[in-house]
Amino acid sequence: MRRTAWLLILGATLLGCRAEEGARSYEPSQFFRTRILPILENRCFECHSSAHEIEGGLSLDSRLGWEKAGDNGPAVTPRDLKKSLLIQAIRHLDSESAMPPKKKLQPIEIALLETWVLLGAPDPRSKSN
Ligand code: HEC
Repeated sequence: MRRTAWLLILGATLLGCRAEEGARSYEPSQFFRTRILPILENRCFECHSSAHEIEGGLSLDSRLGWEKAGDNGPAVTPRDLKKSLLIQAIRHLDSESAMPPKKKLQPIEIALLETWVLLGAPDPRSKSN
């Protein structure tokens, strides 16, 4: 619970910065495109996108991809970190499900993905791609 509170504060801070920068209020699709998509593109797409490979039945290059998701069900359950397979995987809790398999994400990247899930996983991409 304390961790969740901390994440929300971090999220609010990050979003606050953006709001100041652009003198705009928080925009879910903007948050996804500027903070979340680059992480997925750089660290996940090589194994989880239709342009490359779809390992474990999971494609992350469309919203439908993580909604219907892989061999073990939806990869993300909006607002629920524990039920979100994707979050459990990036925390590297065990070597079998650890994602990316080799090099763990940076702590800030993990925090951003956790924040994204807590915000309800806004994803403006079209359903199919
Ligand atoms: C080098 C290839 C590779 C990369 C990079 C990679 N994955 Fe995977 N991923 C796999 C393979 C292979 C599986 C299926 C076998 C397994 O579960 O270990 C998998 C399975 C998964 C699953 C479980 C799907 C299911 O339903 O069983 C999740 C969630 C996942 N990956 C998330 C991610 C995320 C998020 C990233 C980027 C941060 C990522 N992966 C990067 C290879 C990769």
